[in-house]
Amino acid sequence: MKFTPFVALATALLPLVTEASSLPEADQRIRNHLEAGHSVLLVIGDLTETETDNLYRVFPEKLRAEIEANPAEKRNLTFRRYGMPVDAETRMPYGFTKTGPGKWRANCLICHGGNVASPDGKPFFRVGMPNREIELVNYFEDRFAMAKRFPKFVDADLIRAPFYKSFRDGLKTQPLSENRGTINVWGSFGLESGLRNLDLNLDPARVAKLLVGKPFNFGMDPCDMDPPSWWGTSYRKYFYPDAFAPNTPRIMLQILNWPGNAVKKWVPWMSDIVDEIAKLEPAKFTLVVNTGKVKRGEIVFNDTCARCHGTYAPDGGVNYPNRITPIATIGTDDLRLKSGVTKVYREYLKNSWLGEYGKSELPVRTEPTGYQAPVLRGVWATAPYFHNGSVPTIYHVLHPAERPNVWQADLTQYDFEKLGLKFNTTTQRSSLATAEARRTVYDVSLPGKKNGGHTFAEELSETEKDEVLEYLKTL
Ligand code: HEC
Ligand code: HEC
Repeated sequence: MKFTPFVALATALLPLVTEASSLPEADQRIRNHLEAGHSVLLVIGDLTETETDNLYRVFPEKLRAEIEANPAEKRNLTFRRYGMPVDAETRMPYGFTKTGPGKWRANCLICHGGNVASPDGKPFFRVGMPNREIELVNYFEDRFAMAKRFPKFVDADLIRAPFYKSFRDGLKTQPLSENRGTINVWGSFGLESGLRNLDLNLDPARVAKLLVGKPFNFGMDPCDMDPPSWWGTSYRKYFYPDAFAPNTPRIMLQILNWPGNAVKKWVPWMSDIVDEIAKLEPAKFTLVVNTGKVKRGEIVFNDTCARCHGTYAPDGGVNYPNRITPIATIGTDDLRLKSGVTKVYREYLKNSWLGEYGKSELPVRTEPTGYQAPVLRGVWATAPYFHNGSVPTIYHVLHPAERPNVWQADLTQYDFEKLGLKFNTTTQRSSLATAEARRTVYDVSLPGKKNGGHTFAEELSETEKDEVLEYLKTL
């Protein structure tokens, strides 16, 4: 395949804007809920409109010149750099919520909302679609650069916040990601176990010992994760690839348990979000499918795949077994299971208020043993695949020997045959001059990035694999 220079990719990544009016009602309801709960959202993502419109000052020369020549496109070009689709109506990224005049805060959709590829070449935004374009390293590095070089455009309260410096320094040893589209989400989640007592109160002695003047690092191995889609999540009794955390509103509040967030009173709000997530419809595959192949593919799937992935009714219902596959059987990368989340953290979650002090009907699993098969609703759209985003297409999930070890996705294209990302295998990370460019190349030799395992399709003939692929388009 022809080598595509990174710079061309970066500027052609997203459509400039996405039409807000095209969002399904269930998607819009989630956005409304997030807005209603803005005061508990992710404080570290606070941003002002003033800073937004000045961020271009710290951009690489070429992009800055493009914006200066094209001021009307400033917002769109700014957020394209961060892989954040912008809502045409509000001119804000979907991943942000207004908290006051000129003030924004990051919400869940920064990672759990993204553009779905469309055969007409016009991607469209959906809630629950994993954001495979997210570039949080650029986002935070630019913001730290703003605070240093142009502090007058930055909210002084944010820089003064006690956790700001610790978070900034922590990202030097725990980078937020090694690849565009995947995120080291757990690295900073040791917060609770590190700093709080079981009743979620900050312990000043621990804060002083572990955080003040220290980089944010609580001992979880940096582990890049591909956000799961929200289209099948409500069928799960336990969340995350290793299924360690029960699907309860309290457990979900773990991620909002930042200093200053009194999360306990937010249980009803989180319950509503959980209910709304269950109502989301997956993006539909709109090209014509071969109905004969789909029928035969369903039979093969139900014989070979359903014992882990469940069976799928035409009305969208799923009969899902909630079964964990031991790590030795699944054989995909094991870093996330071993040390991407620590036992100390799992135990804290279990025994604290978040885990109902260990008395929950579904207790936190402190020693998970493998990975749980994802629900496959809408899976055709959600490449790359596996928990670490190591495999570019479903075809390659089904053909382990053909999986590329080093690949660079072309995010302007989608492969509606193989179901997934188009890519070249010629660009090497070492040939690229900047860290940003290197993040566009997936390389299995990096920690947590292995692409082996999941060989269950090996027993199928080529024809059967082809039929299963056709069937997966319809889920
Ligand atoms: C910075 C990106 C990011 C943000 C922001 C974020 N998530 Fe996630 N989320 C992830 C990633 C990555 C995973 C997978 C984690 C893992 O592999 O263990 C995940 C997993 C989940 C899951 C588990 C789904 C499943 O099927 O196992 C749920 C539910 C979830 N997130 C809900 C939320 C909610 C609700 C919010 C906002 C309050 C939120 N997330 C904010 C990145 C994010
Ligand atoms: C023994 C259990 C098991 C069987 C059988 C199985 N899978 Fe999986 N599958 C898994 C697990 C576990 C994962 C998650 C692996 C990971 O992320 O590391 C997975 C992941 C996947 C994914 C990636 C999903 C995503 O969102 O990243 C696809 C696609 C998939 N399987 C399709 C199939 C098909 C098709 C079959 C039948 C040919 C099949 N699987 C058989 C357990 C199974």
